[in-house]
Amino acid sequence: MDINKKTILITGSAGGLGKSMAEGFARKGATVIISDIRAEAVEKTVSEINSSGGKAIGIPANVSNEGEVENLMKTAVAKTGSLDVAILNAGILRDGLLVKVDRETGKVKGKMSLEQWQSVIDVNLTGVFLTGREAAAQMIEQKKPGVIIPIASVAMHGNPGQTNYSAAKAGVAAMTKLWAHELSRFKIRVAGIAPGFIATDMVMKDMKPEALEKWKAIIPIGRLGESEEIFKTAEFIVENELICGVVIEASGGIKI
Ligand SMILES: NC(=O)c1ccc[n+]([C@@H]2O[C@H](COP(=O)([O-])OP(=O)(O)OC[C@H]3O[C@@H](n4cnc5c(N)ncnc54)[C@H](O)[C@@H]3O)[C@@H](O)[C@H]2O)c1
Repeated sequence: MDINKKTILITGSAGGLGKSMAEGFARKGATVIISDIRAEAVEKTVSEINSSGGKAIGIPANVSNEGEVENLMKTAVAKTGSLDVAILNAGILRDGLLVKVDRETGKVKGKMSLEQWQSVIDVNLTGVFLTGREAAAQMIEQKKPGVIIPIASVAMHGNPGQTNYSAAKAGVAAMTKLWAHELSRFKIRVAGIAPGFIATDMVMKDMKPEALEKWKAIIPIGRLGESEEIFKTAEFIVENELICGVVIEASGGIKI
């Protein structure tokens, strides 16, 4: 699909990878829909893109709220007349061990709480389900080809300390593959991206420094990824019709 003049909606795009992808697609002539739970940051991102010559429209929404997601996709079409690409990117981390044990006493001293589990499932799994469903519904009614790009993670293979996150991302990878089949008759192509460790706020602020150093040491390319490299991967998916029903690992070779 040609990117120029298309409408590309990205959830979680007021920061991090989502914002980089929005900036990249705007540079290539797309109208980008900036959506995020942080309404002020949405406004800021929209004005940055518009003042640097791009075309951006902001529609704040919480991806785990069904009504807000329905409204997001309907409003995107109402404002631009189209929805060509949806990138399902919003995500959070709430890391912790399943069961934390005191090494000296052997006693259990903590557990991953149900709140920790549920909050990540709500945003990273239910959020992708809702945004994927509503994007597909709009694309089908338009009777035009579309592309859906769910953002997974290499943690989908099962990363210790991330029971909640890994389970959600494995679900995202499964939905990507099955949607490619379910939606093919409507000319909607679905392909995902599983980033490795990319230098965004999620990694730099939320991850413990000792965990970060450990991962850096075992990334075959010897460095974290850059947001721009994830944009390049998304651009490749949009432009290349052969890419369908797969989750591309953009990770510098890290194996979990
Ligand atoms: N950065 C990495 O190394 C990395 C690696 C693998 C996967 N990912 C995935 O890439 C995606 C983007 O991550 P990032 O690193 O840019 O994170 P980030 O924290 O920098 O950005 C995430 C964005 O999502 C928004 N958001 C959070 N909850 C939301 C909700 N309920 N509704 C709407 N928006 C919400 C946040 O406000 C934020 O702007 C996530 O799905 C993440 O799991 C990131």
